[in-house]
Amino acid sequence: MGAKKDKMLIAWGITGAGDRIEETFSALESINQKFEEVEIRVYLSKAGEQVMRFYRMLDTLRSTFDRVYVEKNSNSPFLAGQIQTGKFEFLLIAPATANTVAKISLGIADTLLTNSALMALKAYIPVYIMPTDYRAGDVLTKLPNGKILRLRVREEDVEHVERLRKMDGISILETPEEIAEVFDKHIKKFRKSVAEGVHNQV
Ligand SMILES: Cc1cc2nc3c(=O)[nH]c(=O)nc-3n(C[C@H](O)[C@H](O)[C@H](O)COP(=O)(O)O)c2cc1C
Repeated sequence: MGAKKDKMLIAWGITGAGDRIEETFSALESINQKFEEVEIRVYLSKAGEQVMRFYRMLDTLRSTFDRVYVEKNSNSPFLAGQIQTGKFEFLLIAPATANTVAKISLGIADTLLTNSALMALKAYIPVYIMPTDYRAGDVLTKLPNGKILRLRVREEDVEHVERLRKMDGISILETPEEIAEVFDKHIKKFRKSVAEGVHNQV
Protein backbone atom coordinates (compact mmCIF):
# COMPACT_ATOMS: atom_id res chain seq x y z
CA MET A 1 0.00 0.00 0.00
CA GLY A 2 1.51 3.35 -0.99
CA ALA A 3 1.66 6.54 1.04
CA LYS A 4 -1.61 8.43 0.72
CA LYS A 5 -2.32 12.11 0.77
CA ASP A 6 -2.52 13.65 4.20
CA LYS A 7 -0.66 10.82 5.90
CA MET A 8 1.76 11.45 8.71
CA LEU A 9 4.70 9.20 7.84
CA ILE A 10 6.85 7.89 10.68
CA ALA A 11 10.05 5.86 10.48
CA TRP A 12 10.31 3.34 13.32
CA GLY A 13 13.77 1.82 13.72
CA ILE A 14 14.17 -1.41 15.67
CA THR A 15 17.67 -2.40 16.75
CA GLY A 16 18.84 -5.77 18.03
CA ALA A 17 17.46 -5.39 21.54
CA GLY A 18 15.33 -7.94 23.31
CA ASP A 19 14.77 -5.69 26.30
CA ARG A 20 11.12 -4.49 26.31
CA ILE A 21 10.71 -5.46 22.66
CA GLU A 22 7.26 -6.97 23.27
CA GLU A 23 5.99 -3.88 25.14
CA THR A 24 7.41 -1.60 22.44
CA PHE A 25 5.73 -3.60 19.69
CA SER A 26 2.39 -3.46 21.56
CA ALA A 27 2.67 0.32 21.92
CA LEU A 28 3.30 0.80 18.19
CA GLU A 29 0.59 -1.71 17.25
CA SER A 30 -1.98 0.27 19.29
CA ILE A 31 -0.85 3.58 17.81
CA ASN A 32 -1.08 2.08 14.32
CA GLN A 33 -4.69 1.06 14.98
CA LYS A 34 -5.61 4.31 16.71
CA PHE A 35 -4.62 6.87 14.08
CA GLU A 36 -5.94 6.42 10.55
CA GLU A 37 -3.75 9.16 9.18
CA VAL A 38 -0.52 7.71 10.59
CA GLU A 39 1.62 5.43 8.44
CA ILE A 40 4.43 3.71 10.30
CA ARG A 41 7.26 2.29 8.22
CA VAL A 42 9.48 -0.15 10.05
CA TYR A 43 13.26 -0.37 9.61
CA LEU A 44 15.15 -3.22 11.26
CA SER A 45 18.88 -3.19 11.85
CA LYS A 46 20.51 -6.49 10.82
CA ALA A 47 20.65 -7.48 14.48
CA GLY A 48 17.08 -6.20 14.87
CA GLU A 49 15.85 -8.72 12.33
CA GLN A 50 17.78 -11.48 14.10
CA VAL A 51 16.42 -10.60 17.52
CA MET A 52 12.83 -10.31 16.24
CA ARG A 53 13.24 -13.78 14.80
CA PHE A 54 14.61 -15.12 18.12
CA TYR A 55 11.58 -13.68 19.90
CA ARG A 56 9.29 -15.15 17.20
CA MET A 57 7.92 -11.71 16.46
CA LEU A 58 9.06 -11.19 12.87
CA ASP A 59 5.94 -12.62 11.18
CA THR A 60 3.62 -10.66 13.46
CA LEU A 61 5.59 -7.50 12.75
CA ARG A 62 5.29 -8.07 9.00
CA SER A 63 1.57 -8.80 9.18
CA THR A 64 0.88 -5.75 11.37
CA PHE A 65 2.79 -3.14 9.36
CA ASP A 66 2.57 -2.80 5.57
CA ARG A 67 6.17 -1.82 5.11
CA VAL A 68 8.98 -3.58 6.95
CA TYR A 69 12.53 -3.12 5.69
CA VAL A 70 15.80 -4.73 6.77
CA GLU A 71 19.17 -2.98 6.81
CA LYS A 72 21.56 -3.81 3.98
CA ASN A 73 24.00 -1.01 4.71
CA SER A 74 23.98 2.55 6.05
CA ASN A 75 22.25 3.95 2.96
CA SER A 76 20.12 0.98 1.97
CA PRO A 77 17.18 0.90 2.24
CA PHE A 78 17.18 4.58 1.35
CA LEU A 79 16.01 5.89 4.70
CA ALA A 80 18.52 8.60 5.65
CA GLY A 81 18.05 10.39 2.33
CA GLN A 82 14.26 10.25 2.57
CA ILE A 83 14.37 11.60 6.11
CA GLN A 84 16.54 14.49 5.00
CA THR A 85 14.09 15.45 2.26
CA GLY A 86 11.33 15.77 4.86
CA LYS A 87 9.32 12.67 3.96
CA PHE A 88 8.99 11.62 7.59
CA GLU A 89 7.60 13.60 10.52
CA PHE A 90 10.14 12.03 12.87
CA LEU A 91 12.43 9.05 13.43
CA LEU A 92 11.82 6.78 16.39
CA ILE A 93 14.43 4.20 17.42
CA ALA A 94 12.95 1.84 19.98
CA PRO A 95 14.34 -0.16 21.56
CA ALA A 96 17.85 1.19 20.92
CA THR A 97 20.80 -1.03 21.79
CA ALA A 98 23.81 0.22 23.74
CA ASN A 99 25.70 -0.22 20.46
CA THR A 100 23.45 2.07 18.42
CA VAL A 101 23.27 4.65 21.23
CA ALA A 102 27.07 4.74 21.60
CA LYS A 103 27.56 5.21 17.88
CA ILE A 104 25.07 8.05 17.60
CA SER A 105 26.54 9.77 20.65
CA LEU A 106 29.96 9.69 18.98
CA GLY A 107 28.68 10.71 15.53
CA ILE A 108 29.34 7.32 13.94
CA ALA A 109 26.93 6.84 11.04
CA ASP A 110 27.92 3.44 9.68
CA THR A 111 24.64 1.54 10.08
CA LEU A 112 21.17 2.20 8.68
CA LEU A 113 19.77 3.56 11.94
CA THR A 114 22.81 5.47 13.21
CA ASN A 115 23.18 7.09 9.80
CA SER A 116 19.47 7.91 9.64
CA ALA A 117 19.53 9.45 13.12
CA LEU A 118 22.58 11.59 12.43
CA MET A 119 21.31 12.69 9.00
CA ALA A 120 17.91 13.51 10.53
CA LEU A 121 19.61 15.81 13.02
CA LYS A 122 21.38 17.63 10.22
CA ALA A 123 18.01 18.23 8.56
CA TYR A 124 16.22 19.36 11.76
CA ILE A 125 13.99 16.26 11.77
CA PRO A 126 13.19 15.16 15.35
CA VAL A 127 14.72 11.91 16.59
CA TYR A 128 13.25 9.94 19.50
CA ILE A 129 15.36 7.22 21.07
CA MET A 130 14.34 4.66 23.69
CA PRO A 131 17.62 3.10 24.91
CA THR A 132 17.78 -0.23 26.69
CA ASP A 133 20.62 0.90 28.94
CA TYR A 134 19.59 4.30 30.29
CA ARG A 135 20.05 3.91 34.05
CA ALA A 136 23.00 2.26 35.82
CA GLY A 137 22.29 -0.79 37.94
CA ASP A 138 20.80 -4.22 37.45
CA VAL A 139 17.81 -4.81 35.18
CA LEU A 140 15.64 -7.85 34.61
CA THR A 141 15.06 -8.73 30.98
CA LYS A 142 12.96 -11.43 29.33
CA LEU A 143 14.76 -13.94 27.11
CA PRO A 144 13.23 -15.38 23.93
CA ASN A 145 12.41 -18.56 25.90
CA GLY A 146 10.47 -16.54 28.49
CA LYS A 147 13.09 -16.87 31.23
CA ILE A 148 14.12 -13.77 33.15
CA LEU A 149 17.77 -12.71 33.09
CA ARG A 150 19.44 -10.21 35.43
CA LEU A 151 21.88 -7.93 33.62
CA ARG A 152 24.08 -5.02 34.59
CA VAL A 153 23.61 -1.68 32.86
CA ARG A 154 27.11 -0.21 32.59
CA GLU A 155 27.95 3.36 33.61
CA GLU A 156 29.71 3.84 30.27
CA ASP A 157 26.52 3.03 28.36
CA VAL A 158 24.53 5.43 30.53
CA GLU A 159 27.10 8.13 29.76
CA HIS A 160 26.32 7.75 26.05
CA VAL A 161 22.62 8.21 26.78
CA GLU A 162 23.43 11.34 28.79
CA ARG A 163 25.36 12.71 25.80
CA LEU A 164 22.31 12.08 23.59
CA ARG A 165 20.05 13.90 26.06
CA LYS A 166 22.15 17.02 25.52
CA MET A 167 22.06 16.83 21.71
CA ASP A 168 19.83 19.28 19.92
CA GLY A 169 17.07 17.37 18.11
CA ILE A 170 17.20 14.15 20.15
CA SER A 171 14.65 13.24 22.81
CA ILE A 172 15.24 10.27 25.08
CA LEU A 173 12.26 8.10 25.96
CA GLU A 174 12.51 5.78 28.95
CA THR A 175 9.32 3.77 28.61
CA PRO A 176 7.11 2.47 25.77
CA GLU A 177 4.23 4.54 27.26
CA GLU A 178 6.12 7.71 26.35
CA ILE A 179 6.02 6.67 22.69
CA ALA A 180 2.24 7.20 22.64
CA GLU A 181 2.72 10.71 24.07
CA VAL A 182 5.12 11.53 21.23
CA PHE A 183 2.57 10.45 18.63
CA ASP A 184 -0.19 12.43 20.39
CA LYS A 185 1.94 15.55 20.27
CA HIS A 186 2.85 15.21 16.61
CA ILE A 187 -0.62 14.20 15.44
CA LYS A 188 -2.06 17.40 16.92
CA LYS A 189 0.46 19.47 15.01
CA PHE A 190 -0.12 17.41 11.85
CA ARG A 191 -3.92 17.75 12.01
CA LYS A 192 -3.61 21.48 12.50
CA SER A 193 -1.33 21.84 9.49
CA VAL A 194 -3.67 19.70 7.35
CA ALA A 195 -6.66 21.81 8.45
CA GLU A 196 -4.75 24.94 7.50
CA GLY A 197 -3.72 23.36 4.18
CA VAL A 198 -0.03 23.85 4.86
CA HIS A 199 1.05 20.22 5.14
CA ASN A 200 3.38 18.87 2.44
CA GLN A 201 1.37 16.03 0.98
CA VAL A 202 3.34 12.85 0.28
C1 LIG B 1 18.40 -12.20 21.83
C2 LIG B 1 19.27 -10.97 21.90
C3 LIG B 1 18.85 -9.90 22.66
C4 LIG B 1 19.65 -8.74 22.76
N1 LIG B 1 19.21 -7.71 23.54
C5 LIG B 1 19.98 -6.60 23.66
C6 LIG B 1 19.53 -5.51 24.46
O1 LIG B 1 18.44 -5.53 25.05
N2 LIG B 1 20.32 -4.40 24.55
C7 LIG B 1 21.52 -4.30 23.88
O2 LIG B 1 22.19 -3.26 23.99
N3 LIG B 1 21.97 -5.34 23.09
C8 LIG B 1 21.22 -6.47 22.96
N4 LIG B 1 21.67 -7.51 22.18
C9 LIG B 1 22.97 -7.36 21.47
C10 LIG B 1 22.83 -6.59 20.13
O3 LIG B 1 21.94 -7.26 19.27
C11 LIG B 1 24.22 -6.42 19.47
O4 LIG B 1 25.02 -5.55 20.26
C12 LIG B 1 24.15 -5.89 18.05
O5 LIG B 1 25.46 -5.74 17.52
C13 LIG B 1 23.43 -4.55 17.96
O6 LIG B 1 23.40 -4.07 16.63
P1 LIG B 1 22.45 -2.84 16.24
O7 LIG B 1 22.69 -1.78 17.27
O8 LIG B 1 22.92 -2.41 14.89
O9 LIG B 1 21.05 -3.33 16.20
C14 LIG B 1 20.89 -8.66 22.07
C15 LIG B 1 21.29 -9.77 21.29
C16 LIG B 1 20.50 -10.91 21.22
C17 LIG B 1 20.97 -12.06 20.37
